[in-house]
Amino acid sequence: MLAAARLSACARSNFADRTLLDLGIDQLVIVGAGLDTTLQRVHDRFDGQAWLVDLPGVLAWREELFRNAGVADFAHHVAADLRNGLDPHLLKMAGFNTRRPAVILWLGVSMYLPPAQCRRFVADLSGLSHGSVLIFDYVLSPRHRDESGATYANAVATMAGKAGEPWLCTTAPSDARRWLEEAGWYVHQDIDEASVVPPEFWDRQTHLKPMKLIRLVYASLRVERRPT
Ligand SMILES: C[S@@+](CC[C@H](N)C(=O)[O-])C[C@H]1O[C@@H](n2cnc3c(N)ncnc32)[C@H](O)[C@@H]1O
Repeated sequence: MLAAARLSACARSNFADRTLLDLGIDQLVIVGAGLDTTLQRVHDRFDGQAWLVDLPGVLAWREELFRNAGVADFAHHVAADLRNGLDPHLLKMAGFNTRRPAVILWLGVSMYLPPAQCRRFVADLSGLSHGSVLIFDYVLSPRHRDESGATYANAVATMAGKAGEPWLCTTAPSDARRWLEEAGWYVHQDIDEASVVPPEFWDRQTHLKPMKLIRLVYASLRVERRPT
């Protein structure tokens, strides 16, 4: 189970890194940043500014851990509780330019918010500049999972629930697409997380196999053609 969780974090991060670097957009907002290390991975190829959004206590904890570890973490911190939505004005106050496109990473977070809040979040960001990109993951609702996905989900949901972080939002791809499209996002990709893992990886595994449980989405604001 822990190996599958590690693989999931690597797969989504790799998907996000590749998309971010391909796009060449120089404003990056990491929402629900936690201990995300995107900046540390891409620092020599990403020429721009970054904002980290999370609960105030989590940002302070992150700052302390990174400082104690001697790891540079050049980003603006924006404290926000996503249960109240995300007002782009908060980003603006921290130096973000709402008139220029940005890449918003929202990974490993949507499942911890009630569905109405997820829907509100994508709508709150719809006022960002034309060409802005949203990359996020969501958990499939039970009837869309395969057997491996269902088994893993039961184990993780029990553990996350006991740790005080229950999964609150699981959704069908058609609903996720509706939330995005009604807020003006054009969906370029909505794919199984396992599909971004190279096939050779699975061939070498005895305990891990692809499962249908988590989806990765790449959407942009009012741009139908994937930027090249
Ligand atoms: C599983 S971690 C994901 C961290 C990172 N994005 C990644 O991909 O590894 C979930 C993060 O979402 C944040 N989060 C959960 N609920 C939140 C809320 N209501 N407001 C702000 N952040 C929240 C948590 O504090 C945590 O840092």
